Amino acid sequence: MPYHSENNIKADFDAIYTAPTPYAYIKTMAMLGYQIGEQAKPFCNAAAELLIKKNPGDHPVRMLDVGCSYGIGSAFVKFGLTFQEIVDFYASHPNLNYSSCTTETRRWLSKKHTVLDLVTIGLDNSKPAIRFALDAGLINVGITRDFEKLDMSTSEECEIFQKCNLLICIGSIGYVTALTLSKILKHFGQDSKQGVGPFIVITVLRMFDPIPILQVFEQFGYHVEQVENIRLPQRAFIDRKEKKKILQLLRKKKIDTRYWEDKGIMYADLLIAAPHDQFNELLQKIVSVPHNNRMS
Ligand SMILES: C[S@@+](CC[C@H](N)C(=O)[O-])C[C@H]1O[C@@H](n2cnc3c(N)ncnc32)[C@H](O)[C@@H]1O
Repeated sequence: MPYHSENNIKADFDAIYTAPTPYAYIKTMAMLGYQIGEQAKPFCNAAAELLIKKNPGDHPVRMLDVGCSYGIGSAFVKFGLTFQEIVDFYASHPNLNYSSCTTETRRWLSKKHTVLDLVTIGLDNSKPAIRFALDAGLINVGITRDFEKLDMSTSEECEIFQKCNLLICIGSIGYVTALTLSKILKHFGQDSKQGVGPFIVITVLRMFDPIPILQVFEQFGYHVEQVENIRLPQRAFIDRKEKKKILQLLRKKKIDTRYWEDKGIMYADLLIAAPHDQFNELLQKIVSVPHNNRMS
């Protein structure tokens, strides 16, 4: 299985990915200084804004969030929430049962203006996470699937993928590999009524080989690049053992960790893809995003 040995040395979060409500996920991630969603948000927003501008009055942007967990990408990009706001909300509404938790989350979201007019589709292999994201109104459409296994998409899912024009995958590569992406890309954005797009924004932890990910986009006719000079912090190592093993792996791959993972934080690179004739415009939009993580 791709990334098998890398996944073996990374902390196992399966239990918090599959709880009925997001409490454990949010609390654990907050403790680890999880920030990749927040860090990737301005780049996802930039891609969505470009699609909105380029396809005026047409269909809305339909964003597929691969490995969406409890609707996290949508919370950031569509509702404009910060991770701290999400942490504070669940900390101030503790121990709600499933039904109250979805109701309160819906009530909270209804008071927020959506910052970007998006239809959001969440895909995750965690049935409880997708159920919550849908019931709480964080996503419009939910797909529970593990395309790393033999599963193929149903005709209904193919139709959903065909109508999408933005794919984000933030913090999930490793669990999700080129295999999942290939099953999606076969249909992605194929609807003949699509205007400009599709665009792709993905983060890849430096411990995972990005080449198979780059190759799968090329295979499906995209221009894809790792964006130069942008490196995003993901989370702190869970303990000294995880840090030691991941640093060993990175050094074995001849990756310079001195100004990055040595500080105790895992870092990810940013990959973007678009049809060949649209790539430069997407790249210009992405590199014009102000943020604190320029490498030079
Ligand atoms: C680190 S979380 C990232 C969640 C979210 N994107 C964020 O930024 O907070 C990784 C997610 O990948 C999901 N996942 C694991 N294996 C998967 C698979 N085979 N297909 C889809 N999602 C998967 C997990 O359930 C989890 O929700």
